[in-house]
This record gives sequence, structure tokens and C-alpha cells, in this order.
Amino acid sequence: MSEIDALKKQLESLQAEALEAFGAATDLTGLNDLRVRYLGKKGSLTEVLKGVGKLSPEERPVIGQSVNAVKQALGESLDAAELTLSEAENEKRIEAERVDVTMSGRITSRGYKHPVQNGLDELTAIFTQMGFDIAQGPEIEDEFHNFDALNIPPEHPARAMHDTFFLKEFTDRPMVLRTHTSPVQIRAMQRFLEEGNEPPLAVVAPGRVYRCDYDMTHSPMFHQVEVFKVDRDVSLANLKGVLKHFLSAYFGKDLPLRLRPSYFPFTEPSAEVDIGCVLCDGKGCRVCKQTGWIEVLGSGMIHPNVLKSVGINSDVYSGFAFGLGVERMVMLKQGIPDLRLFFENDVRFLRRMGS
Ligand code: DAH
Repeated sequence: MSEIDALKKQLESLQAEALEAFGAATDLTGLNDLRVRYLGKKGSLTEVLKGVGKLSPEERPVIGQSVNAVKQALGESLDAAELTLSEAENEKRIEAERVDVTMSGRITSRGYKHPVQNGLDELTAIFTQMGFDIAQGPEIEDEFHNFDALNIPPEHPARAMHDTFFLKEFTDRPMVLRTHTSPVQIRAMQRFLEEGNEPPLAVVAPGRVYRCDYDMTHSPMFHQVEVFKVDRDVSLANLKGVLKHFLSAYFGKDLPLRLRPSYFPFTEPSAEVDIGCVLCDGKGCRVCKQTGWIEVLGSGMIHPNVLKSVGINSDVYSGFAFGLGVERMVMLKQGIPDLRLFFENDVRFLRRMGS
């Protein structure tokens, strides 16, 4: 076979092989490798061209034409394959990135204030709006503030082990988890006087308290709000006026109010405060035990001994005080039957109560 025929044959088989390879390429990177392999500077076509040197000057243009034809055919085939592959790759990417606008969104759940915290805030706000200052005291309290200064003598049943959590760690000076917020009366008065003030003094003290108790209406940890005012000529009428406003504001309606004589060591006289049942409007129901009345808090005129314990002259000054259970108030307002629901952390309950 002559040189020129051999070269032509080589070109033909190169073209056939290349076209098949281009057609079989599955991605653009692979196709580009093929372009380099067949048409690149050191590619197969260049290799074939090396043989041209052996041809006669007349034969060279002939083979030149064939080479150009192969080059063109390969170039066109490459361009076509490239177009097809890039379209396919585009299609794939679009498919992968497609957003389904009919799909429902992810729900982000919102947190709520705990119903007890909500109650504390609501109750406290009613008093700050009336001009009462907020005070707080420690939850680990000494016996002087929790009992003695409040005119609760050592033999009083409230000090007995079954009611009060005593803290073992404090052997030199017995300490307790405060059983009520009334010790804040003592602390707030002491601080007030230390700062060189003279009554009037009006305080609202929200906080956590502890008692060894657990059932449908009692929890070992619960919350109280303590309210008191000391001034010249404070009377039971002032107490009743504040109670009336506060209870109507909290329950959102004008409620009948009843003060029943009672006993607390730190008040004299003392009164339990009842409101007309918020659930049946006083008609009588299960919650008010058919009486039409519900007991909501303890109150009274601050006992002279309490004022004396902090050095306030009880001949000049008098005061009223009351203390209420926050959980109980929230239960009544929201119709919650069991106090333990507040502390079981069942999200279904918390969500329903959320605001
Ligand atoms: N400290 C009392 C208790 O926890 C509640 C109370 C009753 C507070 C009468 C008062 C009050 O300020 O005057 O049971």
C-alpha cells in the first residue's frame, strides 16, 4: 500500500473511532478529555500528520484536504455532543434545585410564659399601677424573718417539721425554705428604715414559697404575692378598698367581697377574704361547694408586735397586709381543676394556657 493510502486509511479509522467515542461520552468533562485526546497538540490527529513528511509535494495538498475534512467532522461532532450533554446537565441541575411551592412550610413553635409566671406578672402589675413598690426577699430564710418577727412563737404549729422545710446544713442558725412571702414585710420595712425613710410605705412582694404538702390543691413549691401598706391612720377600710379594686381588676369584673373574721399571728384583727364565686356568679357550684363564695386570701391589720419588731412606733403608724396564693388565683381565673398541672410540664397544658 502506498504511503498516501496508508495515511488515508489511518485518518478514516481515526475519524470512525473518534466519532464513536464522542457519541458515547456521558458528561462534559469526559467529552473534553476526548477533544484533547483526538484534536489536541499531542493528540491522535497530530500523530497521523507526522506521516505527511514522507509524502511527495504533490500528494501533500491531497492529504491536507482529508485532514481538514476529518478535523471539521470531529469539531462538528464535538460541538453537537457538547450541546446535548450541557443541556442534559442543566436539566438535571434544575430538577435537583426545583422548589415545590405547593409543599407546606415548616412550623416553628413559639414559646410561652408559664401560666404561673403570667399570673405573678399580672397580679404584681395591678399593685404597681396603684403605686406599690416591688420588693423581694431570699427563699432561704432565717427563723427570725420567717417566724419570730411575724409574731409566730416557737411553739406555733406552722413551725412544726411537717409543714416547714428546715435546712440541715445550717446547724448554728436554723434556716428554712420560707413558708410564705410575709417575711418580705419584715425585710422591706427594715431596708426602708435603714435607708432613713419614714412611712408611708406600700409594697408588693411576689415570690416562691415552700411547704411540705402535695395534693390536688397543694404543691411543695408554690407562689405567693404579699401586699402591705404602713402609714398613719391606715384602716380596714383602706384594706377593703385595695382588695376590692385588685380583685375586680384581676378577674375582670366587679365582684362581691366578704371579710370573715379569722386568725393570723401577724395581723390583728385578721380576716379571710371571700369573693363571689367567679365560676357560677354566686349561684352555687362544685367549686364553691354550693356556697356561692370562694376564699381567696388572708388579710388583716398588721399586728403591733410586727411593727415593733422592726422598730416602727405602732402608736403612730398602722398598716394592712394580705397574702395570696398565685396558683389558686390562676386556677380560679382559668378554671383549672388540679394545681399539679402547673408543674407536670405537659406541653399540651402549657400550650393551651399560653398567651
Ligand atoms: N402568710 C400567710 C400564709 O402564707 C398569708 C397571709 C395572711 C399573709 C394574712 C398576710 C396576712 O399578709 O395579713 O398563709
